[in-house]
Amino acid sequence: MQQGGCHMTNWAGCACRRLDAADSTNRLARQWAREGAPHGAVVVAREQTAGRGRRGRDWASAPDKGLWLSIVLHRGRLACPAQLIPFAAALAVADACREVGGVDAQIKWPNDVLAGGKKIAGILAEVEGEAIIAGIGINANHESADFPEDLRARAGSIHTQGGRMVELRALEHALLQGLRAYTEAENLLEEYTRRCITLGAGVTVVEPTRSYAGVALSLDGDGALLVRDDAGEVHRVLAGDVSIRGLMGYA
Ligand code: BTN
Repeated sequence: MQQGGCHMTNWAGCACRRLDAADSTNRLARQWAREGAPHGAVVVAREQTAGRGRRGRDWASAPDKGLWLSIVLHRGRLACPAQLIPFAAALAVADACREVGGVDAQIKWPNDVLAGGKKIAGILAEVEGEAIIAGIGINANHESADFPEDLRARAGSIHTQGGRMVELRALEHALLQGLRAYTEAENLLEEYTRRCITLGAGVTVVEPTRSYAGVALSLDGDGALLVRDDAGEVHRVLAGDVSIRGLMGYA
C-alpha cells in the first residue's frame, strides 16, 4: 500500500491511502474510520475486486478504467446534515465530469450521475460510528465493450458518452475540491434542487411492496422526494427505486 500520494485537496493533510487493488474502498475506509481516520481521509484504488453498489448490488471497477474512492467525513465537521452528503457528492461528481471530462453530466435523484441517459457514476454513502463514508465510483475511460452486455443500455462512461479520455488524478482532484466546497456550502439543497433532473419529471416509483407512476414535485428538508401519483396522492419517497419516464434506458 502506498500511503500519502497526497495533493492539496486532501482535507486532513496527507491522509490518503492509494492502492493498486482493494476489495472495496468503502470497506477499507470504514475500517480506517473505526481506527481513527481524520476528516477528509481518502482511500483510492486502481481496481476493486468486490466493489459494492446501492441495494446490495455489485459495482464493476476494472483497473484504471475509472475513479474508485471513498472519503471519511466526520459529522461534526460538516455544514450540512449527514443525510445530504450523497447530494453533495452527486453535485461534486457532476461538476468534475463536466470540467475534466467535458461531458454533459446530470443528476438523477438521489445520487446517480447520468450522461446521455446512461449512468456514468454512482455513490454509496454508509455510516460508521460518527463518520459518514462517501464511496464514489466514476466510469471514466471504459469503451462500450468493457461493460457486460446486459448493462450496456444503461451504463456508460465519460468516454462513451462523448467526453474525453480522462486523466484519473485530474478527475480525483476536481472531485475532492468540489466535495469539500459542497459539504461546506450553506445552500446545498437549493443548488441540488436546481440541478436534479428528476424534479418536475414524470417518474415511476418502485418500492418493495408497491409501485406507482406520478410526478416528482420537490424535496423536503431531509432530501426525501415528494411524488404526486396519478390519483393525486402525495408520497414521501426516501429510498425507493425512482426512474424517470421516457429517459433512455430508464423508461
Ligand atoms: C451505486 O450503486 O450507484 C453506488 C456505486 C458506488 C461505487 C463506489 S466505487 C468506490 C466505493 N467502494 C465501493 O465498494 N463502492 C463505492
